[in-house]
Amino acid sequence: MTSQRLGCLFGLGVGPGDPELITVKAARLLAACPVVAYPAAEGGDSFARRIVADLIRPDQREIAIAVPMDVARDPAQEVYDAAARQIGSELQAGNDVALLCQGDPFFYGSFMYVFGRLAEHFPVEVVPGVSSMMACAARLGMPLAAREDVLTVVPATLPEAALEARLATTDAAAIYKLGRHVQKVRAVLRRLDLLDHARYVERATLAEERRMPLTDAPDIAPYFALALVHRRGSALG
Ligand SMILES: C[S@@+](CC[C@H](N)C(=O)[O-])C[C@H]1O[C@@H](n2cnc3c(N)ncnc32)[C@H](O)[C@@H]1O
Repeated sequence: MTSQRLGCLFGLGVGPGDPELITVKAARLLAACPVVAYPAAEGGDSFARRIVADLIRPDQREIAIAVPMDVARDPAQEVYDAAARQIGSELQAGNDVALLCQGDPFFYGSFMYVFGRLAEHFPVEVVPGVSSMMACAARLGMPLAAREDVLTVVPATLPEAALEARLATTDAAAIYKLGRHVQKVRAVLRRLDLLDHARYVERATLAEERRMPLTDAPDIAPYFALALVHRRGSALG
């Protein structure tokens, strides 16, 4: 009996948005995979696919994973079960699959839900990507942390008291998933005397990027927006 070679699942970080911020390794592996999968909003739009659109060829098969993209989304278990089955059957047939992940795959990335379902059964390789926090710091010209600074990453979706407790003791913070939580975040930062040091970025590194003090940000931010804050005003200070 001949044993069929299993395909490899490549979790490819494709960076924050600018197509030039993909690693050489991710670009090489993407070109080598016969199947390309990506999360897509229910309407079919995929930010991850858009980033690498110029690198995808017509001969590559595509699998769109229709994830609910509302700001407060929870992982939709059935969607990932179905995606894992579809990707798993490609891997079982010996086909390598590139699963695109915006930013870095293991940093709040939906990739990990497919990874969790398939990593025990198939070879997997994860290629890290430039994360949005790094991209936002670069675009703002705002160093994240220096010397013995403690940098805290928090989702704005946390309850207000939890958010306040986390931010009360940190030197610097990246506040993700702002969405409908901008006013709550502003209230917490104001009480902690940090609001004047907080900067907002939406759609960092894309042509439609916007940057401003968090005080001027829209009360309802788009899904791809975050805030950075440093207690001293600057990590250089
Ligand atoms: C599900 S997480 C994905 C993070 C991604 N894996 C990474 O490494 O950056 C989505 C959150 O990342 C942040 N984000 C991702 N891309 C961004 C961008 N280009 N500009 C600003 N924020 C971004 C937003 O806070 C958004 O709600």
